[in-house]
Amino acid sequence: MIYIYRHKRNELQVYNRLIMQNTLKKVGLGILVLLVVIQFIRPEKNIQTAKATHHISKLYPVPVAVEATLIKACYDCHSNNTYYPWYNNLQPVAWWLNHHVDEGKHEINFDEFANYRIAKQYKKMHECIEEVEEGEMPLNSYTWIHKNAILTNEEKTTLVSWFKSIQDSIKANYPADSLVLPKKKKA
Ligand code: HEC
Repeated sequence: MIYIYRHKRNELQVYNRLIMQNTLKKVGLGILVLLVVIQFIRPEKNIQTAKATHHISKLYPVPVAVEATLIKACYDCHSNNTYYPWYNNLQPVAWWLNHHVDEGKHEINFDEFANYRIAKQYKKMHECIEEVEEGEMPLNSYTWIHKNAILTNEEKTTLVSWFKSIQDSIKANYPADSLVLPKKKKA
């Protein structure tokens, strides 16, 4: 009696295992098909061929050392041109990178800076100073791969004093009340 019971139970286990294996195979295949399909859904690249006419340098001189740092540490996410790594050809990696670029450009785009109204320019410089001083920018996920984008103390100091020089120049040329952004209306 006990033997039969055991026997049945073993049979049931074998049966369950087969179902499980079958399901796993289907799920695995599903994931594989999905991975293949999404390779064809690519976000548009952030590459502008037209010359930037509203780059920050149109308003404020950009010293060579500053430009070099911006190129290696900021422009990939804060300009109209991203230098893409090879793995941008893989999905979903490209979506993830694209999301950073979109968000980054939305926050501050050095290629569009000359278009910002003066209060926004002032505020953005304030944010840049904070981000660089606190080591929040460039993003860790970026410097993790782009080791050369890790800013040395000297580079940080150079960047921050440049941001401050822009603030000074704005303060010298515009009345104080024009530097305050109007409060956003409550939704
Ligand atoms: C890998 C992409 C990437 C790089 C490189 C990068 N940023 Fe950002 N940056 C972002 C993203 C995404 C956001 C918005 C989300 C956030 O604040 O974390 C952002 C936000 C900002 C903000 C707004 C922060 C705030 O106060 O809301 C500033 C200012 C900024 N970045 C400056 C810089 C500067 C300066 C550099 C270079 C030293 C830099 N970023 C490099 C992606 C990047």
